[in-house]
Amino acid sequence: MTGMSTKLLPTKLLDGERALITGCAGGIGRGIAKALLAEGATVLGSDITAPPAGDGIDFLAADLSKRDGWKGLLDGAVKKLGTISLFVHAASPRRLEVDTPLSVSEETWDAMTDINLRSGFFLAREMGRHMRDNKIKGRMLLITSQHRFMTRNLPHYSASKAGMTMVMKELARVLAPDGIRVNAIAPGAIPGGGFVADNLGALVAQIPLGRAGTPDDIAQVAVAILSERFGRYVVGTTVEVDGGIGLISWIPAKA
Ligand SMILES: NC(=O)c1ccc[n+]([C@@H]2O[C@H](COP(=O)([O-])OP(=O)(O)OC[C@H]3O[C@@H](n4cnc5c(N)ncnc54)[C@H](O)[C@@H]3O)[C@@H](O)[C@H]2O)c1
Repeated sequence: MTGMSTKLLPTKLLDGERALITGCAGGIGRGIAKALLAEGATVLGSDITAPPAGDGIDFLAADLSKRDGWKGLLDGAVKKLGTISLFVHAASPRRLEVDTPLSVSEETWDAMTDINLRSGFFLAREMGRHMRDNKIKGRMLLITSQHRFMTRNLPHYSASKAGMTMVMKELARVLAPDGIRVNAIAPGAIPGGGFVADNLGALVAQIPLGRAGTPDDIAQVAVAILSERFGRYVVGTTVEVDGGIGLISWIPAKA
């Protein structure tokens, strides 16, 4: 119609966003990467090993167990993307070595906490500075776990996830005034790389929604929280995406 301006609205939730995702060769990280890509973001994935190629996700290798691994990743990501508006930390050691707090080794402890908590915190902190200095109203997501408040003979894992929860809140508080939102997702049971249950059937039977989760179940909530259309007033919180598994009583693990 003449005289009427037709304003084109973005059709995708994350058009124009530039995302860095750790743990991108793993189940959940890769699921989030694909969903962000589908919603219009440019995605740079990182992992210790390269994911299968050919899906439009650029890749940068980094070993986050190394003390300086996160610095190399940060520099490389800024070189590749210019500015970064979305950050997701989904890297975690693959093997969860069940070990009681009375016997867990320093090596097991360090491997877990260095990747999940130490690298996660410094990456998120530097991302926050980068976003603030570049006047980007960015968003970050740390992938934690229900283990952040459960005793399951995984003290190294539980401690790293509890710690991630607190650094998420600390960063959320100081970055929110600059319009930067930091949150966490706590997935339930998502079979795949990082989760292997001895008896998946018995576990699934207890899940109120009646099925295990998929990486895409996590990814769709990640998109919502990271998007300004749905997540714009969500800050400093942990969203449980677990099919209701958090509602059932878990019998504490024996020492
Ligand atoms: N799968 C689940 O049921 C579940 C439940 C709760 C929380 N989580 C959390 O979700 C996140 C993703 O889990 P997932 O199931 O996709 O696991 P995953 O093992 O498939 O993915 C984790 C990725 O981290 C990478 N990684 C390991 N060591 C690394 C290192 N030194 N440097 C860089 N990257 C390294 C691995 O290579 C892997 O690709 C983790 O933080 C995990 O704790 C998973």
